[in-house]
Amino acid sequence: MPEGLRKRKTDSKPEDNTDTTAQTVTENEAELDDIDSAALLQYLKVLWIPLVLCFAIFVYFNPSTLSDIASFWIESDDWQTSPGSSTKSFVGLSADIEKRDAVVEAFKHAWRAYERDAMGNDEYHPISHKGTNLTKAGGIGYTVIDSIDTMLIMGLEDDYARARKWVENSLSFDRDGAFNTFETTIRVLGGLLSAYELSGHDKLYLNHAIELANRILPVFDTPSGLPLPNVNLGKREGIPADDLPFLVSTAEVSTLQLEFRYLSYLTDEEVYWEKVESVMKTIKDHRMPHGLASIYMHVDTGEFVPSAIRLGSRGDSYYEYLLKQYIQTNQTESVYREMYDDAMTAVHDHLITKSPYTRMTYTSELIPERHPGGQLSWRLTPKQDHLVCFFGGSLMLGATITGTTQTSVSLPPRQSEFTENGKRDWKNGVELIQTCVDTHDTLTGLSPEIVHFRIPSDGTFDALSKSGVPVDWYIKGASPGVEAPYDARYILRPETVESLFLAFRLTGDIRYRDWGWNIFQSIEKHCKVDTGGYASIINVDEVPSRKEDKMETFLMSETLKYLYLLFEDATVLPLDKYVFNTEAHPLPIFTPHIRTGFS
Ligand SMILES: *[C@@H]1O[C@H](CO)[C@@H](O)[C@H](O)[C@H]1NC(C)=O
Ligand SMILES: *[C@@H]1O[C@H](CO)[C@@H](O)[C@H](O)[C@H]1NC(C)=O
Repeated sequence: MPEGLRKRKTDSKPEDNTDTTAQTVTENEAELDDIDSAALLQYLKVLWIPLVLCFAIFVYFNPSTLSDIASFWIESDDWQTSPGSSTKSFVGLSADIEKRDAVVEAFKHAWRAYERDAMGNDEYHPISHKGTNLTKAGGIGYTVIDSIDTMLIMGLEDDYARARKWVENSLSFDRDGAFNTFETTIRVLGGLLSAYELSGHDKLYLNHAIELANRILPVFDTPSGLPLPNVNLGKREGIPADDLPFLVSTAEVSTLQLEFRYLSYLTDEEVYWEKVESVMKTIKDHRMPHGLASIYMHVDTGEFVPSAIRLGSRGDSYYEYLLKQYIQTNQTESVYREMYDDAMTAVHDHLITKSPYTRMTYTSELIPERHPGGQLSWRLTPKQDHLVCFFGGSLMLGATITGTTQTSVSLPPRQSEFTENGKRDWKNGVELIQTCVDTHDTLTGLSPEIVHFRIPSDGTFDALSKSGVPVDWYIKGASPGVEAPYDARYILRPETVESLFLAFRLTGDIRYRDWGWNIFQSIEKHCKVDTGGYASIINVDEVPSRKEDKMETFLMSETLKYLYLLFEDATVLPLDKYVFNTEAHPLPIFTPHIRTGFS
């Protein structure tokens, strides 16, 4: 079990600065103060008359300024939508039909190319017009099933009818190959369950869901109950990881619960519930002292293995599903609320960081370091995956659920409706979304797979934007003339627009729609393949963009669905009736008739 956090501090947090640096800053400030008081007063005495005149003229031509200033002071609740926003940005939650329909066109451009070139294959390569499968044993409907609920939501009846026919005639899970337990659950099982729900309970989908879940169940037969990372669906066998057979990743074992629990609710079969619940009990029993979760666990003992701590890959949806399990069960399972609140306090205390110059809020990673004496310390690393961008919206949603004493909050929420932790999470959420949006400031308007942030120990600060302000983030290893690093890619990921969707639903603030529209237009401009489909791009900071021959299935299940819902009326899939699995498949909130077996 790892020891307490930050034995050895690094300087990536401003408050971690060495004493000398802190002193220097104070000294500089003192000097400035001196100049301010002496010289400025002199100037002001002479200047105040023209200043007032200028302001009067400005207000005359911009009459909204005064009301903006007034509303800023009078409406103390104005803090809540976005930093610096005015009440004018509230537009309500009805559809923006033109933009919504533009997203539907994009979906058709993606789906129909896949259907033309690769129907039934797991994955699609839009440039070579080919499909491939995850294993040699044949496809499991990875793309088709991931896309069905989006068609139902968008009202694409003909496309839906053809997809359903494929499920009826061609889908098979009797495939003798190794499939990833987590990916198969979130994409295929989750897709089947939401198709069942949104099709008005078409049994075709439920029957396939039951069959698939039964083929997956053997992965839970381990000493700890933590599921193995792979499954042979044909042989119904769990398969350990190739490289490190005793390791399972935390997010993968803790992101099966919404799917299996809903199946249990639908079928009255307790086994699905019990298997995924025991995973949560194991995680809770092995809580690390600081309340965070490292990204690997031991499949025999159920303990956390010293490994990176982050909200990015292999960590992300653990935190997401703590909140969503509480929401899914109609806020009746308080154990998830406790685990979520505990984790959010730990994230706030240890991972949330501000960049030194422009004060961008982001989440750091903690990397374990073993010392010769055997003791362990954690090094704070200023790196954030695009995957982390789900977290801003998740924090805001969480604040309206566990960070309030009311049964529901206003639109947008008022400060007085939040508890102290609710205020903290809401503010962090708003700021994290702002950061994710800011990392779209690239030549394509798309954000990279991974960003790094400046820390004071980087030394002299020389990166300035075109307008002369410091840039606090960068793509590691990227420079002109050098082949773009892995970090520079955009692979059609949904996390930022997912957060924009949630933030818009919770605030009705137009800026979230505006940001989403900008991202959508960048995807149209740089990722769209003329002959059909969309492709990943190799470098977000290069135009014209170079494409990679892959259209990830989450473009149709998540990115375009969240963009569509951002512009759709909020009565479609309301947040108090549905919870979205981590692949954006909506599942209904229900009051369970099975009670949790642990607390
Ligand atoms: C993928 O699997 C499907 C279904 O078994 C099959 O029809 C298709 O030919 C396979 N694709 C490739 C490239 O082998
Ligand atoms: C959730 O619980 C509330 C009571 O706390 C109840 O009124 C509501 O119907 C429940 N919702 C569902 C979907 O079961």
